[in-house]
Amino acid sequence: MQEKQQIHSSMVVRSEPLLKEYQNNNIPKTSFPALRKKPESFPSISEPELVRHYYRLSRLNYSWDDGLYPLGSCTMKYNPVINEVIAGMEEFCRLHPALPASEAQGALKIIFETQEMIATILDMPGISLQPAAGAHGELAGVFMMRKYFEAKGEIRNKILIPDSAHGTNPASAALAGFATEKVASNEKGLTDLEALTRQTDENTAALMITNPNTLGIFETDILKIKEILEKKGALLYVDGANLNAVMGIASFGQMGIDLTQLNLHKTFSTPHGGGGPGQGAIACSQRMLPFLPSPQIVKKNGKDGDYYDKKNPEKSIGPVKGWYGQFGIILRAWAYLKRNGDSIREISERAVINANYLRKKLEGRLTLASNEPSMHEVVFSQKSLEAKGITTKNFAKALLDRGFYAPTVYFPLHVSGAIMIEPTETESKIELDAFINAVEEIFDIIEKNPGEIRNSPHRTFVREIDEVQAARKPVLTWNQIEK
Ligand SMILES: Cc1ncc(COP(=O)(O)O)c(C=O)c1O
Repeated sequence: MQEKQQIHSSMVVRSEPLLKEYQNNNIPKTSFPALRKKPESFPSISEPELVRHYYRLSRLNYSWDDGLYPLGSCTMKYNPVINEVIAGMEEFCRLHPALPASEAQGALKIIFETQEMIATILDMPGISLQPAAGAHGELAGVFMMRKYFEAKGEIRNKILIPDSAHGTNPASAALAGFATEKVASNEKGLTDLEALTRQTDENTAALMITNPNTLGIFETDILKIKEILEKKGALLYVDGANLNAVMGIASFGQMGIDLTQLNLHKTFSTPHGGGGPGQGAIACSQRMLPFLPSPQIVKKNGKDGDYYDKKNPEKSIGPVKGWYGQFGIILRAWAYLKRNGDSIREISERAVINANYLRKKLEGRLTLASNEPSMHEVVFSQKSLEAKGITTKNFAKALLDRGFYAPTVYFPLHVSGAIMIEPTETESKIELDAFINAVEEIFDIIEKNPGEIRNSPHRTFVREIDEVQAARKPVLTWNQIEK
């Protein structure tokens, strides 16, 4: 409030001098057709006031630069500064996508090389970097499945989705006009093969499974799953957004996957979440190649050597986005892949080790959602907290008080009060230990004074907000605050 008054008290009308000059000098109106008749009431403040205002606001945000960002599934990992520098290079920023291919060879080469590097990691023959995000990649994949069955003269309306799949999967399938059917998990948190066999029939277009799944565990029966689907002519779609757990370790090609989408902003570089730009990829098996979005970026052999060009796949679903994808993000992914090269496997190994270190240290306090080995993230339920009258939400708010961002909570939905922690490969042991100590401290306080944790947060700028009002009547602009 005080801050608001400060801005208003120093408010002077900036366009006033210009308007006076205009009137005094009798300048014909046509010289400044866009000049306001009445000055607009913009606040006019000094530079230091402005800088301090925004600096103070920026300090209210939690960012990766503050510390561990353990949001499971969202993969908030460190993004090397060098990638930002490369993405900000004038030569790239000024390139217009409408330029003819002959004048944009460098950019097309980068897209092509990124395609090739990712296809090699996946061990799959085809890929498009056109989708703008993970869910958008899913949608492109589902459109491809529809076109595939149309080309075969078959009508299939159903897509099966395990309850451990990511929430965007059923949404994408429904958006493309398919009916979705849930497949239950077994007691290990893996897709129940008996249920899958029962539910797969001649009307099944595909199974859309997330692997590693949203419990952070690997679907070890993936080859049996493929067999069950193949018997009924159905496709295997894998949501591969959790690729950062298996890069250089598992071959998507050998698993018989027909389609998979990736989130470049989760796996390679660029922060995920916060509404920032994302970038997807849709990769496919040999039989799905003709259906990839158009245009594709291909390498050709000319009389003066190799060059890069656009090509439309034979039975393409058409473009799913303007131009070639989010080029700035592709560029960051390219830089990340080039720098890590053959050591890409180490990234996954570190992500898995970090998640398992946290799991081992925390499983005495929090209740594991599955006893299967964890991959890049670990999921707990609220069982042990509940026994002390504490909810997942209280626990998450208590972590904010201790200077950490909260893990993903209440997702996946099939785990009661889920707490999903993904430390990522870029965290040091020191940072992980600090997080573990914060959890230990919360549990110690729960024993002595549970009310303190129940009423968290105590030290944040805003205490507990009314989430219903925030969702129903969001106040997002200065004018709304004034009203
Ligand atoms: C496993 C999985 N699938 C799909 C998505 C959706 O991706 P996006 O948010 O880019 O649309 C996410 C997002 O985190 C994810 O973790």
